[in-house]
Amino acid sequence: MTTTPQATTRPAGAVGTAHTRVEGRDKVTGAARYAGEIPFDGLAHGWLVASTVARGRIRSVEAEPVLAMPGVLAVLRHGNAPRITTDYEGVVGRPDPALGIFQHDRVPYVGWPVALVVAETSEQAREAAEALMIQYDEEPHDVAFFAGRPGLYTPEDSRFVQAEAVKGDVDAELAASAFVVDAEYTTPEEYHSPLEPHAATAHWDGGRLDVVDSNQSTVWVADELAKLFSLDPASVRVRSEHIGGGFGSKGVRPHQVAAVLAATVLHRPVRVVLTRRQMFSLVGYRSPTAQRVRLGADPDGRLRALDHQAQSVTSTVHEFVEGSAMPGRVLYDAAAHRTTHRLVRLDVPTPTWMRAPGEAPGSFALESALDELAEKCGLDPIALRARNEPEVGPVSGLPFSSRNVLACFEEGARRFGWAERDPRPGVRREGRWLLGTGTAAATYGARVGPSTGAVTAEADGTFTVRINAADIGTGARTALTLIAADALAVAPEQVRVHIGDSDLGPAMFAGGSMGTRSWAWAVLQAAGELRERLALSDGIPPEGITVRSDTSASVSALAAKERHSFGAQFAEVAVDVTTGEVRVRRMLGVFAAGRIVNPLTARSQFVGGMIWGLSMALHEEGYRDPASGGQVGADFAGYHFAANADVPDIEAHWVDDPDPDDPVGIKGIGEIGVVGSAAAVANAVWHATGVRHRHLPIRPDRVLSAGAAAESERERGRGDA
Ligand code: MOS
Repeated sequence: MTTTPQATTRPAGAVGTAHTRVEGRDKVTGAARYAGEIPFDGLAHGWLVASTVARGRIRSVEAEPVLAMPGVLAVLRHGNAPRITTDYEGVVGRPDPALGIFQHDRVPYVGWPVALVVAETSEQAREAAEALMIQYDEEPHDVAFFAGRPGLYTPEDSRFVQAEAVKGDVDAELAASAFVVDAEYTTPEEYHSPLEPHAATAHWDGGRLDVVDSNQSTVWVADELAKLFSLDPASVRVRSEHIGGGFGSKGVRPHQVAAVLAATVLHRPVRVVLTRRQMFSLVGYRSPTAQRVRLGADPDGRLRALDHQAQSVTSTVHEFVEGSAMPGRVLYDAAAHRTTHRLVRLDVPTPTWMRAPGEAPGSFALESALDELAEKCGLDPIALRARNEPEVGPVSGLPFSSRNVLACFEEGARRFGWAERDPRPGVRREGRWLLGTGTAAATYGARVGPSTGAVTAEADGTFTVRINAADIGTGARTALTLIAADALAVAPEQVRVHIGDSDLGPAMFAGGSMGTRSWAWAVLQAAGELRERLALSDGIPPEGITVRSDTSASVSALAAKERHSFGAQFAEVAVDVTTGEVRVRRMLGVFAAGRIVNPLTARSQFVGGMIWGLSMALHEEGYRDPASGGQVGADFAGYHFAANADVPDIEAHWVDDPDPDDPVGIKGIGEIGVVGSAAAVANAVWHATGVRHRHLPIRPDRVLSAGAAAESERERGRGDA
């Protein structure tokens, strides 16, 4: 009752100093428990059964023999599953109809959930699920995606992707250009592959549905589950304490719905964990893209035209647009701009957001094309970018909140040693290796969403922050601890932060690189008011003093500006043209991404994104079999992403770039690391070999066949001479 509200000594600012994760010890000792391993009394286990055909109808599910197997409790399927509705508008729009599991007999792709087998143990459920016989009436399917294929259409604008943006007359400007690049680029299906699989346990607890899950927003999942099952939102609670990666895949997915269905039918807790293989069809992926980029420039490299036409895939049941043409709308000035998106509906699962959706594949095409233009104009790639630096948003005309992309290139060039670079391709050899360097720009939106929060001054002199954040591995919990500590003028050790529970109230999800920023606003608002209250109070009652906040008003009062983070990516590669092997030797990224809260975890966000770009450039490729319609090699043996042996020395740095409109100065750093990094690698491969790779990944066979083609072209050239 008599603790003084002020800390005895005001510590130095915590924000900006490196701090290990507050839950780090729990994680490395195994004390931190993940959704699939939290114990429940009377727990039953559900195993999803997915369609093996790409299109058709379920003729029969032969449940009887399976129900006789040891431990089997139920087989839920079309015909016996309780009613679910997908006819609603959720937090991010209409739901993916894949959430309406077992509601009809149609099958729109390989991997569509067709049954859930529930048993006493996970092993029994799996055994029975694998024994379950399902007959289908198959129909012909089409899963083939390629540039310009039939069926392409223009999607509706959404709040995530504007389908088209046009300024000026692109064709006239191209015709008037001294230099033109017109090239097509492709990227394959790519998969989020978080280390922790999706897992949910549902049970009814005194009239309330309680779901323990691994997700990017408990309140989002709770809201969707309430709508799917027509429940009062207050009667649904979702918790998600520790999350082993999400990257856009951990929203509401069929496994949570399946767990709730089974818990409702069986009146006991039911857990559904996805297998790695199931994650290749049930949790979204990055659409393959085909992108045509046309750039027209004056003799001095000034852009007259920027035309980026992006094509991608969606399913027959739901629409998702990979916004690949978006980065050009922000990065470069040009007299005329045209950036368009086209979709085709195929018999495949619906793609979704995946770390830097749009910007990741889009920046590969655009930033490769810029490099091609630099070569044509005889300009240094950084000088070309500087020449086309816009004063305001190139299409929107809006002012930038801040824009320090050239500062990133300057700092990056200095650290990387760019000034010594010989621009000629294919002239540096070291033994069997050809060496080259490349660069590319990065950009990603710096947005903020509304959140509520609460801060309590406890009677023992400590502080408790309650904010429904999701720490998907980013270090958000730690960042919020540092932010709260500074706002309260106490040491981080005096602050505990509770997150990951829908009962904490509405808050932004961990997505769009805006989680920490959005939550920080709510924490700051509550902490600021709490300090004022404490200054006036003469003691803290046993229950503490709590101040709540809601940032909806301040978030919506933000002026319209182009709000983005920026960056400059650099890569050095070695290419063995006799084996086709590409090794990345070093990567360097410099970012202007707002105030950096925790340099330790921020660096790991940037570096993690850059590794993903390396992986995208050289390794990642989901292959869809046209005959079966399914993913071939849907596991970590068949789907290779960069392993330790693929990843060299990677450095990430940042320039001073506090967001002028953010109370902490944050912009968000979760995604920008991946943007432009694949292009930097591809541009370095060109610089090493003189061969341009426009199709990812740059596999050894592609290096070899491109090398052979270039060789025979040179031969022909000599013959003609
Ligand atoms: Mo991110 S793709 O918004 O999780």
